[in-house]
Amino acid sequence: MAKRKTKFMCQDCGYESPKWMGKCPGCGQWNTMVEEIEKTAPARKGAFVHSQSTGVASKATPITSIETVSEPRMETDLKELNRVLGGGVVRGSLVLIGGDPGIGKSTLLLQVSSQLANKQQKVLYISGEESMRQTKLRADRLSVTSENLLIYSETNLEEINLTIEQVNPQFVIVDSIQTIFHPHVTSAPGSVSQVRECTAELMRIGKTKGIAIFIVGHVTKEGSIAGPRLLEHMVDTVLYFEGERHHSYRILRAVKNRFGSTNEMGIFEMKELGLEEVENPSEIFLEERSQGASGSTVVASMEGTRPVLVEIQALISPTSFGNPRRMATGIDHNRVSLLMAVLEKRVGLLLQNQDAYLKVAGGVKLDEPAIDLAIAVSIASSFRDQPSKATDCIIGEVGLTGEVRRVSRIEQRVQEAAKLGFERVILPANNLGGWKGPRGIELVGVHSVSEALKATLGG
Ligand code: TYD
Ligand code: MG
Repeated sequence: MAKRKTKFMCQDCGYESPKWMGKCPGCGQWNTMVEEIEKTAPARKGAFVHSQSTGVASKATPITSIETVSEPRMETDLKELNRVLGGGVVRGSLVLIGGDPGIGKSTLLLQVSSQLANKQQKVLYISGEESMRQTKLRADRLSVTSENLLIYSETNLEEINLTIEQVNPQFVIVDSIQTIFHPHVTSAPGSVSQVRECTAELMRIGKTKGIAIFIVGHVTKEGSIAGPRLLEHMVDTVLYFEGERHHSYRILRAVKNRFGSTNEMGIFEMKELGLEEVENPSEIFLEERSQGASGSTVVASMEGTRPVLVEIQALISPTSFGNPRRMATGIDHNRVSLLMAVLEKRVGLLLQNQDAYLKVAGGVKLDEPAIDLAIAVSIASSFRDQPSKATDCIIGEVGLTGEVRRVSRIEQRVQEAAKLGFERVILPANNLGGWKGPRGIELVGVHSVSEALKATLGG
């Protein structure tokens, strides 16, 4: 009987240890160590290239004699995806798409595959999760018809490698990395070592042959499935596909991108016949806004290079027992606590015995400082039960002394508000500096939170 050896490995940094530990000594994270069962089968020498080598020969070169060529890119028909990738799919790049099960990763990649195949590119879609027939069913629903798109149901990486040799595709989709195994690694598919070695091997294949590879990775904390966190260090680009299951909107975000900015986000809507791009996100985020309700404000937030108008809702109600609650969806709850402290100390609102619930409508996540002032006004508006004007848009960062600080890209934000019919923008006075803004919109510069409250809610 083969002897079985057990070791523990951190899902985040790959730290190995002979015994389980609650906290990983490698990266300091809690509960990331998972068991790896490995049979001590002698690995064949030179059987596969180790993780670090990409297989591309290179030598030390003076920086001045390196040519600046832009990476060859291939655009898909999804402009939102192209933008998130930094202008299209880069040849030879390795892209990881993470996301909860059922969010639409396979759908997105099948659509992209079909579009690339229609442009005479050869695409190999490797499905380790679904049979060919299941993939075909989805493809029918998405009306995919192209002979250049090959579907292949396989989980053994050696077989996959051979097929890539034979087919010689320009694009490869691996759905998902957790189902693929390398026959020379003895631990189970989905374990940290499998995921790491398979990714390294795919990277080698992609870089040597100039194939763009998309890898699907599931995000889950349980069991022996390695989260894609470890993969993030290895690949060129990491995209997250997120959204609430009960909403049809999906947001694609880059969290790492060697070929572009990580601030961009792409918005899609899951429809009966696949994913559709949302070209004007502000409209949909404001679609269901109830006019004239207290606690609701609209902020112009920058998502990458694009301004998006989003509604922020607050509900402040007296605490009925115990400690007051602070809950926030789509924004950091620490920031909410901080802004409530500022409102309490600098404006004199008695909020300490109040529960606070904050929500960004539409399932978006906002994390830039320019949304502070809108959050503060929402809280004050709900607390005093005074609605702000539905045609006001509020922009500004709030400091601890209650001052309103300058934000970036004010012109773009104001323009977006004007485009959607807002009549007034409350913004940091420091941002004005003689600037009048586009016609038809009034700009109100404020220095402090109290001034902003006076302008929006009255005395
Ligand atoms: P899927 O791409 O299988 O998710 P993942 O690969 O991330 O696990 O998509 C799953 C959901 O999308 C499923 O609940 C059905 C829905 N869907 C549509 O609404 N419309 C469509 O055209 C398709 C293909 C799927
Ligand atoms: Mg899937």
